[in-house]
Amino acid sequence: MSQNYSDAFVFFGATGDLAYKQIFPALQSLIKRGHLDMPVIGVAKSGWTVEQLRERARASLQEHGGVDAAAFEKLAARLKYVDGDYNDASTFERLRQALGDARRPLHYLAIPPSMFATVAANLARSHSARNARLVVEKPFGRDLASAQALTRVLREYFPERSIFRIDHYLGKEPVQNLLYFRFANSFLEPIWNNRYVASVQITMAENFGIQGRGKFYEEVGAIRDVIQNHMLQVVVLLAMDPPANSETESIRDEKIGVLRAMAPLDRKSVVRGQYAGYRKEPGVSSDSQVETFAAVRLRIDNWRWAGVPFCIRAGKCLPVTATEVLVTLKRPPQSVFGEIVQSHSNYYRFRLSPDIVISLGARAKVPGETMAGEEVELVARDYSVDEMPPYERLLGDALRGDSTLFNRVDAVEAAWRVVDPVLGNVTPVHEYQPNTWGPAEANEITADIGGWFDPRPAGTAQ
Ligand code: BG6
Repeated sequence: MSQNYSDAFVFFGATGDLAYKQIFPALQSLIKRGHLDMPVIGVAKSGWTVEQLRERARASLQEHGGVDAAAFEKLAARLKYVDGDYNDASTFERLRQALGDARRPLHYLAIPPSMFATVAANLARSHSARNARLVVEKPFGRDLASAQALTRVLREYFPERSIFRIDHYLGKEPVQNLLYFRFANSFLEPIWNNRYVASVQITMAENFGIQGRGKFYEEVGAIRDVIQNHMLQVVVLLAMDPPANSETESIRDEKIGVLRAMAPLDRKSVVRGQYAGYRKEPGVSSDSQVETFAAVRLRIDNWRWAGVPFCIRAGKCLPVTATEVLVTLKRPPQSVFGEIVQSHSNYYRFRLSPDIVISLGARAKVPGETMAGEEVELVARDYSVDEMPPYERLLGDALRGDSTLFNRVDAVEAAWRVVDPVLGNVTPVHEYQPNTWGPAEANEITADIGGWFDPRPAGTAQ
């Protein structure tokens, strides 16, 4: 492995939810591909033994992707466990010992953001920060000011090139394909602007609630959890100008251009909702005003996109689990055939999950005497699984030191600047019934662009 490759993988929050759902499966796959030939050290404060952590890893794999006997055996053999409080210097001394002669460890903080600064400082004090990489989970901060403060603290111990701000959406295959599809083809670019595009909308729907994450969710809410990061990143990939080449900084430079042109949200462009029953979830306050649904209408004030609304809605307890982008094209200038056609009849549809689709919606004539048409879809891509799940891709990139798919500090701050004015309770939160598309008030956001386009459940034709 190259000199630049990390030589130990440390993950804080080893006994937590994210490790169980995402990190163990990613580690097993990295081992299978020969990319993780190094000590793997879990850190947490659960009073566990390494045996318990191994059992947890096995259970995680049984539930998420399956156990591969050979790779699991290697993972189990490489796994170490350090138990202790993140405020306690002795935890970090034991971590230093567990690192042995590793010189370039990667530390992944899969822990609440409020602990990032403490862990970073203790890593430095225990001499585990030198030549190390630091991977931090989203959301990075709670708002613009706290994100800036966090950057100042982390930079005391880690140079910017060693800080990897993760947003797992950027590691998703279909999200990567947005960038590829746009810039590997010549037919899109001439129409990809306000002369031809009428509106863009994204729905990120989940048909489940907060799944026991009440405490986390109460601190966050839908805007901080998925709009400030996952959804804005998707908008950026849809709206950015062509990068000069595929180098990390060329792509990041174009992305920041979109975020800078985005107008900060105001109260009129946001509708917040909360599903009935949320306040009874464990860890949730009985008078909580935190949103589990948000719909926003963004403006990108630049030459390409001026006047095109970008509408996003994301929510828990909606009727389906699916994330879909719809780029609606303007109608033909004249209705030659005198038909009344829906406003969403010419579009590009990018379905990002759970299955992956890229298609173009068009009208074609129904065979027969009259010049009447029907809606058809031309499908460019349609498959059901992500070949390389995002955490595997991203952790592999971080181990190699490739930060292309991680957020640069200016992008994180620019995204906070967009949502900052509507964080907290500056707008009312409307109750909605589970299994519906959120509060009726959200329909106002898209009233002039033909309404929201509801994604179908997986396995049913659009
Ligand atoms: C996480 C959010 O970042 O993304 C969750 O914290 C959300 O609330 C999840 O459910 C969705 O990710 P995916 O990859 O399952 O669509």
